[in-house]
Formats: sequence, C-alpha cells, structure tokens
Amino acid sequence: MLAVCALLLSAKVLAWEGQVSVTTPNTQMLLHAWEGGDLRVAYYGTKGATLEELRNAGDELNASALPVFGTVDMVQLPALQVQHADGDLNLELRVKNYELRKDGNAALHVFTMEDRLQPVTVKVYYKAYSRVDILETWTEITNNEKKPILLKRYDSGHLVLRQGDVWLTHMHGDWAAEAEPVMEPVTAGLKTIRNTDGARNSHLDAPEVMLSLDGKPQEQTGRTIGAALCWSGNYELRVNTVMRREHHLYAGIDPQSSEYVLDPKQTFQTPHLALAFSTEGMGGVSRTFHRWARTEGMLHRGMKVGDMLLNSWEGLYFDIDEGRMKAMMDDIAKFGGELFVMDDGWFGDKYPRNNDTSSLGDWVVDKRKLPNGLKALTDAARERGIKFGIWIEPEAVNTRSELFERHPEWALQTKGRELRLGRGGTQLVLDMTNPKVQDFVFNLVDTLLTNYPDIAYIKWDANASIQNYGSLYLPKDRQNNLYVDYHLGLLNVLQRIRQKYPDVVIQDCASGGGRANYGLLPYFDEFWTSDNTDALQRVYIQWGTSLFFPANAMACHINHCPYWNTGGRVIPVKFRCDVAMSGRLGIELQPKDMTDEERQQCTRCFQDYKQLRPIVQTGDLYRLVSPYDRKGVASLMYVDEGRTQGTLFVYKIDNYYNQPLPRIRLAGLDPDATYTLTEKNVRVGQQPCSLSGKRFTGRFLMEVGIEVPLREEYASRVFELK
Ligand code: DGJ
Repeated sequence: MLAVCALLLSAKVLAWEGQVSVTTPNTQMLLHAWEGGDLRVAYYGTKGATLEELRNAGDELNASALPVFGTVDMVQLPALQVQHADGDLNLELRVKNYELRKDGNAALHVFTMEDRLQPVTVKVYYKAYSRVDILETWTEITNNEKKPILLKRYDSGHLVLRQGDVWLTHMHGDWAAEAEPVMEPVTAGLKTIRNTDGARNSHLDAPEVMLSLDGKPQEQTGRTIGAALCWSGNYELRVNTVMRREHHLYAGIDPQSSEYVLDPKQTFQTPHLALAFSTEGMGGVSRTFHRWARTEGMLHRGMKVGDMLLNSWEGLYFDIDEGRMKAMMDDIAKFGGELFVMDDGWFGDKYPRNNDTSSLGDWVVDKRKLPNGLKALTDAARERGIKFGIWIEPEAVNTRSELFERHPEWALQTKGRELRLGRGGTQLVLDMTNPKVQDFVFNLVDTLLTNYPDIAYIKWDANASIQNYGSLYLPKDRQNNLYVDYHLGLLNVLQRIRQKYPDVVIQDCASGGGRANYGLLPYFDEFWTSDNTDALQRVYIQWGTSLFFPANAMACHINHCPYWNTGGRVIPVKFRCDVAMSGRLGIELQPKDMTDEERQQCTRCFQDYKQLRPIVQTGDLYRLVSPYDRKGVASLMYVDEGRTQGTLFVYKIDNYYNQPLPRIRLAGLDPDATYTLTEKNVRVGQQPCSLSGKRFTGRFLMEVGIEVPLREEYASRVFELK
C-alpha cells in the first residue's frame, strides 16, 4: 500500500495502489482505489486519520467517491449518469491511473477512470490548497464513442458523511430579501436545493450550504463542512439520507432541461465544488472561504480594498443629466469619497432610456442628457480627484431598441412561440451561446474602456431570468445545452475582458444579489448585495451573505429615508452608516436632499471608515450575536491577521422598555494582548460612549465581554480595537 504524501509532487503518473490522502494544512480527505477497482472515499475531516485507524475504529465509510448509475445500488443516488450512443444507460467506472501534480498553491490529484464496456473516460479531480483549508473537486467526462452521448446527470462532486445529528444550513430568499440562513436537521430522505432562473442563481436559494456535524449549528464551535458550487447557472444540491449509516451530499448543474449532448472527442468539465472543513463552527467555515476567495484568485479583487463611492441609482433613478452627474460628483468628493458611479439611464439614441421599457442594447450616449458625452464626465471626475464608473446590462435587450430591430434573432426564443417579456414589459435575454453575441458583449466593454480609459469601474447588471427557453443559434439537437452553454459563453466573454482589462473594477449585480456566486467572482471585484438598502434589513441580508462571501466583495450603501422598499421606514443616519461600514462602504441617495446632520454623519463615517477599511475589508470575520437569535442586538467584528487590531460593530435591532441586552463577548483576539477600545463614527452631537478609551485584555473581552451602551431605538456603535 502506498500512502501518497502531498509533498511528493510530481508531474509524472505515479505508480499507485491503495490509499491517497488529499490534504490541506488542517484537513484531509482519504480516498482509496486499486487499479481496475472503483474510487472510494473513506473520510473527510481533521488531518491525521489513516485508513487502518478508521477500519480499527469500525468507522470506515468506504463509499463510492462518484456514484454512477449502473454501478451504485439503487438505494444510493447517482452523481453521474450517461446515455451512450447505443442507448445503454449504465456506467461501470474502473480506475486506470492516478496522477499528482502541482497547480499553483495546490496539489492536484487526478483519478482517471474508464467504463468497462463503452469508450467513455471520466477524470475525477481533487485540488488541495496548501495555504487554506479548501478542497475543490470536479470531473471531466470525455466522449470517445463514435456518436454523441447524453450527460443525463453530471454532478461536480459527492461527499459522504457518517449519519448523526447533522444539520443543514442553506440560504433562502427573494429579490430584496436575499440570503436568509435556514437551519434544519438532516432527516431521512432527500432534501433538494435548486435554482432554475437560468441566468442568475442566488436570489431565491444559493449554491452554497453548510453541514454541521455536531448538532445545531454554532458560530464558534463544532465540526462544520462548507460546500460552494462555483457556477453561475442552474444547480441542484441534494442531501440524501438512506437507511444505512450515511448522509450523502451531491452538488452540480441542475440536469432538468440540461441533459447535455456531448459530441465525440469532446470533454465536458463540470464546475468546481469547493469544500471546507472546520472545527470552529460556521465562523470557521466562513473565514476559510473568505481567505480562499481573497488569496487564491476566487475574488478578482483579492486582498485589495474597494473604493468609497456614490452610486446614482436610488438618488436619481433614470433622471440622468450632465448637471446632476457633476453635482453628485461634487458631493461625493466633499464627503471624502473616491468614486462616482453613473447608474442606469445614460444611453439610447432612437429610444432614450427614460424608464425600463426600452433601449437595452443601444449602448450609445443619449446626447439629450449628456451633450458633451462621457468624456465630459470622466474629465469632471478627474478634476474633482475622484474616479468614474458606469452602469451597463450587457446580456439584455429590450424589444424597443435599435439592437432588437437589427438582430431580433440574438434574443433567446423559440421560433413560433410568443415571447415572454420581462422587466418593463419589453426585456429579453441575449443568446450568450452565440459567438456573435459574445463578441457584441465583449465589444461593448472594450469600446467603453478603449474610448474612455478613465473609466475605472463598471457595474454589470442582469435583470432578467431566461423566460424564453430556446436558441436560434444552437442546432435543433443541441437545444438541451442552452442553460449550460449560456454560462460558458458568459465566462468566455469575462475571460476575454479580464485578459485585456485586469485592473478595471467590475461589480457583479443582478437586481441586487442575484449573482453572488463563486462561478463569477473570479472575474468580478464585488457584488451588489441587495436592491434592498434598508439598514435594518441589511443587517440580516449581510449576515447571511457573509456565511460564504468576504466583506470586500459585499457592496453596502447608505440609503435615504423614508425608504420605499420597507414601507417608508425611517432609520437614523448613524445606524445606516454603521451598517454600511461593515462591508464595502458606499452611498446610494441624492446628497442634495440630505439634512445637515446627515451630511456631517456621512462625512465622519467616510473619514473613520478610511482608517478601519483594511481590517473590515480584508480581516477575519467573527459573527458574535446573530440578528436571527432575537436578542435585541446583532454584533460582528473583524480582526487583522496578527490579532493586533480589530473593528467591532454592534446594532440595536429591537427596542422596548426594560430590555435585557446581552453582553458582547468578542472573538478572534490574542487573550494575552491588551486592546484599547475607541469609538468611531460617533453620533453627531454626542460624545464617545463610556467604553471609549478603556483598555482590556483579549481574554477579558472574549470571556467576560462588554456592556455596550445602546439606549435609543436603532442605537449602534462602532469601535476600533488596538
Ligand atoms: C437593478 C440594480 O440592482 C440596481 O442597483 C440598479 O442598477 C437598477 N437595476 C438599474 O436598472
């Protein structure tokens, strides 16, 4: 038996037999296989276990790593099913060889398997990072048959866990109410989490889940697995518990309406499934994903921090003109901001974009609104010492547009069927499977950035689902491939853009948080967390979103009040600022409508945030008191890598007489270090609270905790720890 050590990296095919340990700094997956046998998984968890020990402990799981239809018994669900050219629906995969390669900061384990009867090759990949506890797994299916085969199901990965008091946490939501964590015990039978929007995949449910192995999910303790499917299209995540000793997690592209036709000599690569294991509860899994996103290229921004910006949408909606743009630039510059973003409404010639019923696709400046074009705006921004950004929605077209008049065939549709129209009663989705459409989308970005090299930021929106299933580009017998090829086309365009423009900041927006996923984030710097900017609801939305996504990816903007989306709710500007400060800070209102107090508070908030920003945006997140626990407050904090500095946020989210509020016990600090608390963004007209300037050991802060003064409704505090 050969135990392969991750240090023995080599590009050549290794002689192997038996056990393979896929290891990250603190975790390990144990696989075993013999040439001519099945690939099996025995363990996933803390590093250090051996097959022998697992066997001796009577705890070896010994399940197929990739259960395939035809070989698994009919109790287990298959992760892969292929229909061969001759109609045969079975696979019997046998391992032919094993390779261990170096891949950047990771070791890549590749198992090549072949069907015993038909010429289909399946490679199973495990990528183990050496600096962060993430494993990625995916497969590649190659058709060596003479005719096309059908991929009826093609999951990215499968995980098997010992049955127990296991809980599932998944995100559920809607437009303007994204990412509510739902926690439920895993019970007998099948639980499915799916998305079928076609174009966006994280409004209603999300392709990320956690599995807590030691009972009800806890923030700081308990063995916890996190799984994120790195894909922007439809997905299906399944947790299946059978009358045995196991829970099974399967994750992959949703096969419904996507039974993929694979041509001879073609290889299909499934999206990656990223897995994390932590003994530090949900918080540990979150920190692992955040670190992976920032340090391993899974978030284009990496360790960089995002600019403080003003976005024109909620302040002006479609009411764009040159004067208003310049006035907004003046305002954001006065606040100490760094970037102004002109949102929807700046384009259209024959059809001016005055509302959402027209013009998408006609990416020319509306000279009636901007007579001096974009150059006048980029110049104006430079003169004010700030950067300039612009909104586009590249994958969409309105039926009232010159583009649709020229190329009606570029919209997704089926010949003869009535078009189902989206936003504004006229919106359609472009056919990203068509290389001409891909070029059109690339050229839109390329032309903007070539003609206006001062554009520093693009907000890339996507406001429609695929409601018309059909492509006039794909052949009749390839219509099945639409949902998948749409996203492969989108990725192709994004790769081209990033090759030429690595430095432009691009926001991933989809009617708010409809596209927060690790399929797209390698090409984007951040995402618009939600179209709901009500600060109280944002406490919840940002909480759920932070389970998998880091703070420098989450755009969080101060809004105006009364706020229409939550029935005219009015929240003090201090609370609004403090909530937005816990992510990438921005502002989303008409500054000229602000009161003096609001202006002063925002200026103070921007000033203080500038100092706190590196820790908030790139530090380790510790969620302290959940808003979902109904304790009257929510609290979270960020700590730098050396545990010498931190930022603490506390929000009062409920208010009644004689209300008992919990002590805030901090986390992630050095117990022996001494920290001074300094209150930041102090409310205009008030003095810092009594805790400000006080010194405490990390041990005291973590074990005893502090009473944070929060008297009035919507009270909130931000502290710097040094
Ligand atoms: C939806 C986005 O989420 C908003 O922020 C805004 O950009 C609008 N689209 C513009 O139409």
